[in-house]
Amino acid sequence: MSTSLQALREASNLEALYPVLSDHCMTAGWHKKRPSLWKSPRTAFQPRHWSYELGRTALDQAGLWIGTELAERRNLLLFNPVGDNDYDTVRTLVAAYQMIKPGEYARPHRHTPNALRFVLDAQPGVFSVVNGIKLPMRPGDVLLTPSDCWHSHFNDSAHNAYWIDILDVPLVHLLEPMFFEEHPGTEQTITQSPQAHAFWFKQADIQTALTSASALQGVQRHVLASAADFATQQLQFLQLQSGASTGLHRSTASRIFCVGQGAGEAMLGDLHVQWQRGDVLAVPSWTPFEIRAHQPSQLFEANDRPTLEKLGFYREATT
Ligand SMILES: [Fe+2]
Repeated sequence: MSTSLQALREASNLEALYPVLSDHCMTAGWHKKRPSLWKSPRTAFQPRHWSYELGRTALDQAGLWIGTELAERRNLLLFNPVGDNDYDTVRTLVAAYQMIKPGEYARPHRHTPNALRFVLDAQPGVFSVVNGIKLPMRPGDVLLTPSDCWHSHFNDSAHNAYWIDILDVPLVHLLEPMFFEEHPGTEQTITQSPQAHAFWFKQADIQTALTSASALQGVQRHVLASAADFATQQLQFLQLQSGASTGLHRSTASRIFCVGQGAGEAMLGDLHVQWQRGDVLAVPSWTPFEIRAHQPSQLFEANDRPTLEKLGFYREATT
């Protein structure tokens, strides 16, 4: 008989069971260290605000020392200060500011996480190549590099280009289906240069859609038609008149907002922030939030609502 079995059989009280169970990676449900169920969502993630002015200045300075060979890593991850995390922005998504200097390119690779770029500042000549398809990157555009698509980025303009990357890498970390591959060549062969593509949402088209959307208390919304290519996230734009507010509400989705135009303020849980063009806001799950514009404003939002809905976990409330 094993010593463990013998110890269990000879136990004279519950306390005597626990060390033996622990040796075999068992914990008694009546004796666990922490609850596993609670009444409503809890998150350790914090609502946060990041300044584009600060991020852009840091990237410009870094550009003095981070050369072309590391251009694809010249980015600033917007991490949430929870535990020892230095990557995730919210539970399922990560956002980063990225800068590419004139003449540089980010080498091609592919990975299971879905990635998108929301372009902040770029002159003509900045573009991505996604599976051989050349897609221009202009301010206010959203470009998709869906799961497993080869992607690389170029700056053939005379000025630095800046954008915000958003990826579902933290979700892939949680579920663990990570695959990553460097492209076998130094560059993809460009096979198409289309005027329109499902991976490319142009600011001009977004603006037209927002303008024609019905306004609810000064707020117009436009959801990008990205669901077929981007299964984990909902991507949408909000256009707010000066003085308009989203109203206070919350949901089980985690959200990242990027300010495309304008300025205003926001309550994110207990955090009150002032935001302006290029800034990023993080709203963790079930955090009440309200965004108010002080000028005519446009915000881009990525959230994980489709993931939660597919699993039956999406809920929302007005307070
Ligand atoms: Fe990538």
